[in-house]
Amino acid sequence: MTVGVAIIGTGVMGAEHARLLDREVSAAQVRGVFDLDAERAAATVARVPSARAFDDPFELIADSAVDAVVVASADPTHERFVLAALAGRKPVLCEKPLAPDVAGCERIIAAELAVGRRLVSVGFMRRFDPGYLRLKQAVDAGGLGLPLMLHCTHRNQQAPAGLPSESLISGSAVHELDIARWLLGEELSRITVHRPRSSRASLPTEDPLFLVVESSSGVIIDIEVFVNSGYGYEVRCELVAERGTVSLDAPAPVVERRAGAVLRAVPADWRPRFAAAYRSELQNWVDSIEYGAPCDAATSWDGYAATVTAQAGILALRTGLAQPVSHLDRPELYPAPTGGARPAQSTAPG
Ligand code: NAI
Repeated sequence: MTVGVAIIGTGVMGAEHARLLDREVSAAQVRGVFDLDAERAAATVARVPSARAFDDPFELIADSAVDAVVVASADPTHERFVLAALAGRKPVLCEKPLAPDVAGCERIIAAELAVGRRLVSVGFMRRFDPGYLRLKQAVDAGGLGLPLMLHCTHRNQQAPAGLPSESLISGSAVHELDIARWLLGEELSRITVHRPRSSRASLPTEDPLFLVVESSSGVIIDIEVFVNSGYGYEVRCELVAERGTVSLDAPAPVVERRAGAVLRAVPADWRPRFAAAYRSELQNWVDSIEYGAPCDAATSWDGYAATVTAQAGILALRTGLAQPVSHLDRPELYPAPTGGARPAQSTAPG
């Protein structure tokens, strides 16, 4: 058996998901793609022989050859495609954010609840990265004692000119906001955003930004986001606990010694850094659909929590004041939490 997949949006991420599903993920076949930019869709179809380009995204989602949907289009379009997948009772893996606004996330959760089983996954792929998984194992094993602080760094080589400063929070730091909840197993409660001097290469974008986030048990999480670092893509994470620390090491396995220097390559963007995570995320998602295996991807609730926190961060940036992360206690969306991050809503999609 093979899971027939539709891909909506074949830009950088959609094309990469199509390549991985075609070449590196078992039990899956890309059956169709749609992109507003027909040339981009055609370029993906040329590399993925099992796929054909559709003229209408909703016809593609409803097509009988399509069992599941990947949404990798522009952020504001996610909600309508996720809702269409839910209307067809089809599992959907939506790139982050689930929706850029809280109300959009709430509509998705309500539609999923109406279906009555888990169908939505959100592409917070760091949850599948071998390094982050080791960090989580170390935290959960308990030998380090209670977590006290989490230091996070998120650097991109270069961002598009004129990028809104808010995007540093909603597009970049949102990965750290999700991974902090996942690592610590609890919700975030308060967020402040500091503006260091901006790099002259970034203006008018305010870059870097420095976020200070508190978890509900009092762990302090600091997040540096610097999207025009100039040297490459790098993510760091160190957890400080009562009896020790645990941190990500440089993932590059090769070190070159030459001309009086020790050189370790830094990737230009996130794709090589998280290649294993993207592959593993897709395989886990396909296995959950095909074999009923547990789906470890972020749920719609996780996507909602990330958007709520990012929106509080944007308000903190605009006002210069600490903001509570509110709206997270929504019993009408889920049963009241029993403490810590909410568990997966149910078992596997499909
Ligand atoms: P991109 O700009 O390269 O691709 C987006 C594509 O969506 C474009 O080809 C565009 O024509 C298409 N599109 C726009 N509106 C559409 C519509 N109404 N219907 C169908 N297609 C439409 O952007 P990129 O980097 O591929 O990002 C795509 C999504 O993935 C975004 O939501 C982004 O936030 C997310 N993302 C996730 C990452 C991760 O690590 N998980 C990394 C980078 C992006």
